[in-house]
Amino acid sequence: MLEGFPCRDGELCAEGVPLAAIAASVGTPFYVYSAGAIGARYRRFAAAFAPEAPLICFAVKANSNLAVLRLFARLGAGADVVSEGELRRALAAGIAPDRIVFSGVGKTRGELDAALAAGIRQMNVESLPELHLLSKVAQARGRVAPVAIRVNPDVDALTHAKIATGKRGSKFGIDIEDAAAAYRLADELPGIAPVGLAVHIGSQTGGGLDPFRAAFERLAALVVELRQAGMSVARVDLGGGLGIRYHTETPPSVEGYAALVRDVFGALDVHIAFEPGRVLVGPAGLLIARVICVKDDMTKRVIVLDAAMNDLIRPALYDAWHDIVPVRLPAPGAVLRAADVVGPVCETADTFAAARDLPPLAAGDLVALTDAGAYGAVMSSTYNSRLLVPEVLAASGRFAIVRPRPSYEELLKADTVPEWIGDAIAEPASTPARGAA
Ligand code: LLP
Repeated sequence: MLEGFPCRDGELCAEGVPLAAIAASVGTPFYVYSAGAIGARYRRFAAAFAPEAPLICFAVKANSNLAVLRLFARLGAGADVVSEGELRRALAAGIAPDRIVFSGVGKTRGELDAALAAGIRQMNVESLPELHLLSKVAQARGRVAPVAIRVNPDVDALTHAKIATGKRGSKFGIDIEDAAAAYRLADELPGIAPVGLAVHIGSQTGGGLDPFRAAFERLAALVVELRQAGMSVARVDLGGGLGIRYHTETPPSVEGYAALVRDVFGALDVHIAFEPGRVLVGPAGLLIARVICVKDDMTKRVIVLDAAMNDLIRPALYDAWHDIVPVRLPAPGAVLRAADVVGPVCETADTFAAARDLPPLAAGDLVALTDAGAYGAVMSSTYNSRLLVPEVLAASGRFAIVRPRPSYEELLKADTVPEWIGDAIAEPASTPARGAA
């Protein structure tokens, strides 16, 4: 059974509301999130760490809808942001500045300044140039920036190469061998107060708890080393990365993860923060699409949906698996047949699933792509001039559109045509050919 999306009378529902009813009102495709599932996932994470009372900063990049962020604000979460846009969203959703951390490998001067002006909890600094820039910006503002040095621990997160961040040679963080020197520099620079260390080895990590253990042990050793050298290290930010089960993965439980964190940091008297994204929202969202047609006359069955790679890019970008289930459950004993499930966008990358065993589906049927609450809507685009996919939040028998589908007028009016456009392609004034009669 899908968390937050139970079946009623043979039909998938979102917190008691039939998905078919939402589709009739909103049109397809759309994302739908279960507020209850988000709350339950956050509370389970927080409960696992109750003794530590850490700061749980939801990674806004996973799902930045203001309604979702407001749920996290209500739950008591902080936010991990990576841009001024995300910072503004977190603040607008009511997340207190002193619960916001700013990550990212390329923060601009303007972004650093905006974060300082807002008075956020911590900047996770990823390079020496960033440290120097932040020192200048902070002095200009007359502020002292609380800084965590993000360490690259040289650990393989055993995940898709495109979302691994903790190996030497990746663009992220400061190599662990150089981190002590960076911390000392942070201690010396005006306008900077080093408060701790941060690490994030990648997303949807594989290998159970092993990559986390390797990274955390290196971080803990660095805490000890820095303290022995007389510096204060009050905080560690352990990043995100806990995976979910999309298909056959067996990610560690939050409770097992908590036991590991306790084991490594328990004796260190250090305040802990996390930046989980996917594990809090991934399973709490579905992408609902309608079958446009079934091409059964090919060498294989091809099911064409009205959702496409611009709405959910994970399969195209990471070969990611999302389960595809009919919204009206198939009759018992329905025969499964392999099919490719694709969108209407004009490239072969627009394929959600290849040779997937599926029950009979016909034009007009609704399907749900599961585990789409993280890195779904946030990565959508208007490629092929398709309208940005709407988002819906469901809670206890109610639903609300939390981002409407734009109109075609809005799509078109985002562009402007300069009044000199006609001249831009004027034929060059012809010069008579030399020697012409
Ligand atoms: N903290 C930092 C510094 C990060 O870079 C990320 C994710 C997180 C926290 C949250 O990680 P999570 O708990 O969600 O694994 N678009 C990709 C995922 C990219 C993740 C980037 N960083 C996907 O769809 O799989």
